[in-house]
Amino acid sequence: MDTHTPQQMPAQAPPVRIAIFASGGGSNARVLLDHFRGSYVGEIVLLATENPHSGILHFAPEYGVPAVVFPPQAHRDGAYLLELLRSYRIELLVLAGYLKKIPDAVVHDFPQRVLNIHPSLLPAYGGKGMYGLRVHQAVIEAGERYSGMTIHYVNEVYDQGQIVFQERLPVGEGMSPEALQMAVLKLEHKYYPKTVEKVAQTIQIADK
Ligand code: GRF
Repeated sequence: MDTHTPQQMPAQAPPVRIAIFASGGGSNARVLLDHFRGSYVGEIVLLATENPHSGILHFAPEYGVPAVVFPPQAHRDGAYLLELLRSYRIELLVLAGYLKKIPDAVVHDFPQRVLNIHPSLLPAYGGKGMYGLRVHQAVIEAGERYSGMTIHYVNEVYDQGQIVFQERLPVGEGMSPEALQMAVLKLEHKYYPKTVEKVAQTIQIADK
C-alpha cells in the first residue's frame, strides 16, 4: 500500500506585471525585455512612449509585447495613464529614459511602484532639464572625480524619490561627455534588470 502523502507544493505567485515607458533609443528597455524573458518574477506586458520615433516601437514586435504611443492629452491629469495601467493590470511601472513627468495622480496610485533610472549620482546632477549629455557635461565641467547611476522610486518631484540602488565609476582624465555617457549606460544595463527584479520580487512576496 502506498502510504506516501504527496507534499503540497508552495503556490508560486504569478509574475509581477511590468510596464516600461521609454522616450529615446530604448537600450535599457531592451536589456529589461531580455532579462525578463521567461521569468517567474516579472513579466513585461506593456511598452509605451510619448515619442513616435522611440526605439521601443521598432523592437516591441520582436518580443511580442504591445507598444502604445500616447496621445497628446496623456499627461494632462493622469486619468489616461491610470486607465491604461489599470487595463493592463500593471503592478510595477519602470521608466527607462522617459522624459515626461509622471502625473501626481499616477504616483499616488502606485506608491513605491514606479522606478526610474538616472545617469548621475543623485541628488547631484538631477532635476528638470537634466537628461542626456547635459548631465555628463555638467559632471565633467564641475571636475567631478566620480559619476555613476541611480535607480530610485518616483515621487512628485523630478529625481527626488527614495534611492533604491547606486553605482559609481571614476571619471577618467580628459574624458568626453560622450565617453562618460557610454560608460554610465553600461553600468545601467548591468544593474537595472537586477534591481527591477529585486523590486518585483518584493511585490510578488507582498501580494501573495
Ligand atoms: C539613460 O541614460 C537613463 O539613465 C536616462 O535616459 C537614458 C536612456 O537611455 N534616464 P536608453 O534610451 O535606455 O538607451
